[in-house]
Amino acid sequence: VATVGGVDRYEVTQREAAIEILPGVRTPMWTYEGVFPGPTIEARRGRPVTVTHRNELPVPTVVHLHGGHTTAASDGYPTDLVLPEGRHDATHMAHHMHDMPGMGDPRAVVTRLTRDYTFPMDQRSTMLWYHDHRMDFTAPAIWRGLAGLHIIRDEEEEGLGLPAGDRELPLVITDRAFDGEGGLLYPSLDPGLRERPGVRESYLAGVLGDVILVNGAPWPVHEVDAVRHRLRVLNASNARHYELEAVTDDGRRLDLVQIGADQGLLAGPVTHRSLPIAPAERYDLVVDFSGVPAGGRVRLRNRLGSGRTREVMAFRIARTAADPSRVPPVLSRDLPSWQRPDAARVRDFSFRAGRMHGGHGWLIGGLPFDPARTDVTTRLGDVEIWRLIADVHHPVHLHLVGFRVLSRGGRAPRPHDAGLKDTLSLRPGESAEIITRFTGYRGRYLFHCHNAEHEDMGMMANLEII
Ligand code: C2O
Ligand code: CU
Ligand code: CU
Repeated sequence: VATVGGVDRYEVTQREAAIEILPGVRTPMWTYEGVFPGPTIEARRGRPVTVTHRNELPVPTVVHLHGGHTTAASDGYPTDLVLPEGRHDATHMAHHMHDMPGMGDPRAVVTRLTRDYTFPMDQRSTMLWYHDHRMDFTAPAIWRGLAGLHIIRDEEEEGLGLPAGDRELPLVITDRAFDGEGGLLYPSLDPGLRERPGVRESYLAGVLGDVILVNGAPWPVHEVDAVRHRLRVLNASNARHYELEAVTDDGRRLDLVQIGADQGLLAGPVTHRSLPIAPAERYDLVVDFSGVPAGGRVRLRNRLGSGRTREVMAFRIARTAADPSRVPPVLSRDLPSWQRPDAARVRDFSFRAGRMHGGHGWLIGGLPFDPARTDVTTRLGDVEIWRLIADVHHPVHLHLVGFRVLSRGGRAPRPHDAGLKDTLSLRPGESAEIITRFTGYRGRYLFHCHNAEHEDMGMMANLEII
């Protein structure tokens, strides 16, 4: 990272790399900078970050900063491509893209070989992530490795005395499936995978793997002191949901003290025994290992898994140590307080299966994604309430803004709905209301299901802020 004129500059090359994920074998992946997950970008609130992405992959890509309060030009619209270097000229690629179903008018396809994405970072401290977002191909690109963290820090958070340094652990949880040589299996490309136990048969419901990775390592064991740790959890899986719990050797469940949600710190901590996390959601947690004897273990488990997908990772307790950290009762005072009467309008959206291009697709309001259609137009600064309803499980994500959950299933929000979010896990048959204010920038943004396969199969819509 270099700082030029008050802007932090990063350069990221997207390239193929063979990475040792399973012991003794190399997995060919698509990477940011040759690593998986990609390099973590560390940003300061109020100080812009520019990331120059160079595409050396064999396909066009799009970079989206998930949770970023970003201008539309840098938000990574699905047809706003970074072309592979030296392989195609822009005109050729535009025509090629036009032949693909759903790519629409080639004049709408913006292409570049490298490009700068600029993030104003005028937003609360939190953990975001960046990932590929190319139209119709986001899910396989993320599966192959195009995802990384982007953390924003500020003084408010640093003054709290939360566990820090090596006691702050970002945990990127994903699932993947591998063949015998370590290659990634992606069911839509590998129909033979159907016989494999633990791997879901069809692409339709979203692709699951039978190996759980944390920060790119299968079921890692991490050594910790017997003190409080801050676990910053991202579910970067394409489609797998987890319900996390931390269990000691003698079967005791440790409290998961939630201090933050997708879009930053909560007003105050919320204690959970277990915590559901849908694709793209983040939780900022503090777990206290002080009651666990040295040599003991705490397993992070997934209550929704079975067999080996029930295990996520483990912490091995090394020794007792001094713990200067604390979790103050008041964490943040800068949360928005939008209330129902503030809303200029209420909108309804259904997230359901339906027919598209003559086949099966996933639709919002009965329609598959079309980059040429504006689904929602709103005015900069307006507060809106969105009522969402799902047929099956759909994690609904809005670009640009954070929102508050007003209700779920006709009742008060659940404890894990606290704080400011950008992704809401709608459970099968469930409805929910969210409230947000469209601030910052005008332009074309998106909202979509973050089951990555659902997104590729049409469950995405345009949001125009005027
Ligand atoms: Cu995490 Cu539109 O995406
Ligand atoms: Cu996003
Ligand atoms: Cu979905």
